[in-house]
Amino acid sequence: MISAMKTRSLLTAMMFAAFTATGALAADKVTVPSEAPVAASEVPEGAIVVNIDKMKYDNTDLKVKVGDTVVWINQEVMPHNVDFKAGVVGENELKGPMLKKGESFSITFNEAGVYDYYCTPHPFMRGKVTVE
Ligand code: CO
Repeated sequence: MISAMKTRSLLTAMMFAAFTATGALAADKVTVPSEAPVAASEVPEGAIVVNIDKMKYDNTDLKVKVGDTVVWINQEVMPHNVDFKAGVVGENELKGPMLKKGESFSITFNEAGVYDYYCTPHPFMRGKVTVE
């Protein structure tokens, strides 16, 4: 049986997770253009894309410029996301939505730095974006 206190902290944690997913608390280092997944067909030509396939990010050491937007596209049936631990893009975790096959999620990097991320359900899936 779950105590009332435990239930409350669980609810708080869930609300917090939902809030951080919006990027609203991620402060200024990054901007999240859309909290919800966007169809890969909507990704503009020439976008900086990291494809996700076969349980891997296809570019785990991406270098971009300040102001660039990086788009992650899931190419396989297994759902994946990108998750930046607390302190990486801001004070709080930035947990991207789970992407189904053919869905994308974008982040605009507003500050130089090194941004490590991983896939929430598959923590061995890792990558990094270096913003110069
Ligand atoms: Co994954």
